[in-house]
Amino acid sequence: MTGTRERFDAAHGSPLCQPAGRPHLEPNDPELYERLADQWWMPRGRFVMLHWLAAARAQLIPRPRPGAVLVDLGCGAGLLAPHIRGYHHVGVDLSHEALRQAAKHGVQPIRADVLAVPLPNGRADVVVAGEILEHVADLPRAVAEACRLLRPGGLLVLDTLADTALCRLVAVGVAERLLGLAPRGVHDPSLFVDRKALVRECARHGVRLALRGIRPALLDLLAWSARLRPSVRMVPTATTAVLFQGAGRKKG
Ligand SMILES: C[S@@+](CC[C@H](N)C(=O)[O-])C[C@H]1O[C@@H](n2cnc3c(N)ncnc32)[C@H](O)[C@@H]1O
Repeated sequence: MTGTRERFDAAHGSPLCQPAGRPHLEPNDPELYERLADQWWMPRGRFVMLHWLAAARAQLIPRPRPGAVLVDLGCGAGLLAPHIRGYHHVGVDLSHEALRQAAKHGVQPIRADVLAVPLPNGRADVVVAGEILEHVADLPRAVAEACRLLRPGGLLVLDTLADTALCRLVAVGVAERLLGLAPRGVHDPSLFVDRKALVRECARHGVRLALRGIRPALLDLLAWSARLRPSVRMVPTATTAVLFQGAGRKKG
């Protein structure tokens, strides 16, 4: 029988998903993805914003040449897959259940840490790091791995959250807690990404990264909230201080 707390969670998109009997999770605990595994592909599930971000990320990815390989770091359940048909899509993630779902969407799953990916140097035409860098404790290592996997001339595409007070307010206070656009507790703000360090680390590995801020289109968000739209477009915004994308090619 469903308990009061679970009914509250289901109705309010709550947060840390702590049904009775389950241990409390710390922010950014990987177990959260196992607990919420049934939410990945739900149109209005707890990962809804990741669907909007995947569509926006895909706009930075060129049409594939025959046989092109795209390595998707922290691929989750493969939400990017429908947007990048034609690539050999390799997904790296720690979550069993997410990878199982990704495989159903044509992703070749590799269960591994993005800090030590069991693939050879230069394997990828495109490396994607979508909403993963803000979850890892060693940014330089994650960037080094992403760049190592790229062939010369290959493209790195990423999106992540900035290490700013504004981002902590918007991503945690508003998106997680107020609007329920992300599962509560999914982020540990101490891991949010220092933009200068990110650009510097990419440059060290031969990738000149350009950044741009993005945000949900506000009218879309209102219409989506009123169930008048199925999804929300992400649009460029003046500041990279909250959510931002990055793209750059590895020196040939
Ligand atoms: C916020 S989700 C993003 C998923 C996907 N990139 C997307 O945008 O739909 C973060 C994903 O990264 C995975 N993850 C977190 N830390 C990881 C690590 N160190 N190595 C591999 N995967 C990791 C989680 O299991 C989760 O699937």
